[in-house]
Amino acid sequence: MCGIVAYIGTKDAYPVLIKGLSRLEYRGYDSAGIALQNGTLNIYKKKGKVENLIEFTKNKDTSGHVGMGHTRWATHGKPDDTNAHPHTGGTGRLVLIHNGIIENYAVLKSALQKHGHTFSSETDTEVLVHLIEEIQLRENLALEEAVRQALTQVTGAYAIVVMDREDPHKIVAARKSSPLVVGIGKESFLVASDATPIVEHTKNVVYLDDEEVATITLEHGLVIKNLRNETTTHTVHAIELQIEQLEKGGYDYFMLKEIYEQPVTIAECMRGRMNAEEGWVRLGGMEEHMKRLVNAQRMIILGCGTSWHAGMIAEYLFEDLARLPVEVEYASEFRYRNPVVRDQDIVLAISQSGETADTFAALEMAKERGALTYGIVNVVGSSIARLTHSGSYIHVGPEIGVASTKAFTGQVTMLTMMALILGYERGYLPKSRYQELVQELSRIPEKVDRLLKNCQKQVEYIAGELKDAVNSLYLGRGYNFPVALEGALKLKEISYIHAEGYPAAEMKHGPIALIDENMLVFVIATNKSAHDKVVSNIQEVKARKGIVVAVVTEGDTDIKELADFTIEIPETEEPFTPLLSVIPLQLLAYHTAVLRGCNVDQPRNLAKSVTVE
Ligand code: G6P
Repeated sequence: MCGIVAYIGTKDAYPVLIKGLSRLEYRGYDSAGIALQNGTLNIYKKKGKVENLIEFTKNKDTSGHVGMGHTRWATHGKPDDTNAHPHTGGTGRLVLIHNGIIENYAVLKSALQKHGHTFSSETDTEVLVHLIEEIQLRENLALEEAVRQALTQVTGAYAIVVMDREDPHKIVAARKSSPLVVGIGKESFLVASDATPIVEHTKNVVYLDDEEVATITLEHGLVIKNLRNETTTHTVHAIELQIEQLEKGGYDYFMLKEIYEQPVTIAECMRGRMNAEEGWVRLGGMEEHMKRLVNAQRMIILGCGTSWHAGMIAEYLFEDLARLPVEVEYASEFRYRNPVVRDQDIVLAISQSGETADTFAALEMAKERGALTYGIVNVVGSSIARLTHSGSYIHVGPEIGVASTKAFTGQVTMLTMMALILGYERGYLPKSRYQELVQELSRIPEKVDRLLKNCQKQVEYIAGELKDAVNSLYLGRGYNFPVALEGALKLKEISYIHAEGYPAAEMKHGPIALIDENMLVFVIATNKSAHDKVVSNIQEVKARKGIVVAVVTEGDTDIKELADFTIEIPETEEPFTPLLSVIPLQLLAYHTAVLRGCNVDQPRNLAKSVTVE
């Protein structure tokens, strides 16, 4: 979703902002713009990619040591040059960029119109900058004070950066429910939606909290106040991100790089937390709350998109290995349903970005209702990580491709480790079985590595054969039902082929009506316990001339004879199969999308981090 970058320092702001915007591209956007301060305000904005903006600014005045840049993902108003950010107030004195949604913008807009304000865009953002300007001019206030007063009138979510032509050596930034990070460099400061535009300038950052306003000048540095006008203090954190992690490293797309990183990222997720020889798993985040976790009556899992699919796998894991009742919830539904949450419940939030607006709000509600909250998050220091009582980072490194791959396997790895710990601590997994499972889990990175090498050619071949399909079904049972959902999501997200995930046995209750010689049916047929039943499902599909692609366990000859195409995965314990069976489905979606000419890393209309509801 929208990306923000701003700079104040001794260097030229333009190259810093443009580089920053290209780092933010992965979040998903449809227009981009910048504003530069050099005694006057130069604002340039364009529909489409950052490339278009660069082209547009050629031969234009891009001087100035202070500036802001924005990538917009349209919410209010279509993606075009006018609705692109930055936006100015009525007199052109103030300029602002915004991520989030101002929910009461219509009321504010009509009040401002009564005071003579006219608006050129359809955005809620333009209303906010007019409001700030109205307050500033009425009372002749400093920019930060006008921003603070304006924000007390606003409902909704915002991360903003504002500049004032009459106060050219200052930027003001504020946030509520949308992330904002301030980078503290040598004679420079950056403000950004996440650390990716900051890391090449400094590793020292401060995370702004909700309802805080930061005033930044080179003279006085960073001053933060809350909306009650009280000064707040912050710890400076060191970010661990490396620039190489933000580059494609020789791959055509970030998604492909991230798929191939999985043997390493799964191992990174386990590192220091598991010892196969000694046969134990430990998670620092769980240890502090072990008594409450062990005695929990129920676990509620919250997530969206791929993270919700990881949660579905967790339901099988926790019930099977730890006999803990689990409910998996779409965060967006949970938060508006008045759900029953008790203080003996554990509420687990799964989020790659740690910033998904619905997951954050649902978690906040569960915390208020007394549950113990635990985060499974990738981005260190993100809002969800900071909101939870405890948690474990998956440590898979930055995920740039919009379609989640390595974060999914990191989440499932983490959830598997948690299930093993709880299974053992709750007395349902005898020590010998627990140790056997720990040993097998430690072999997964090597099995993923082997699988990637072995399936590559076959997957590319199948993608070539199937790239013109229009409709597809993904079927799985047990642990592989959520994998079917995830496989379907991958294909539809990046190749735009219609894809539905279904529990294999449910096929007879509807989807079977769609099966003919054009229907592609992916069957994840690795489960030992449900193998024969899945074979029957494949026969049912073949009887109706559907095209079957089956993911099977190495050496499975029965299904090979039935299916049109098969992909083999190494054998493992049944609870760990999702970590393997999902890999060829990711790769297949990738190659299909590439063959269809799609922009795999930035699929249309999608955002990496959904910071508005
Ligand atoms: C978006 C992304 C998905 C992601 C989902 C949840 O839809 O495109 O890849 O799974 O948000 O995001 P989170 O950061 O909370 O895991």
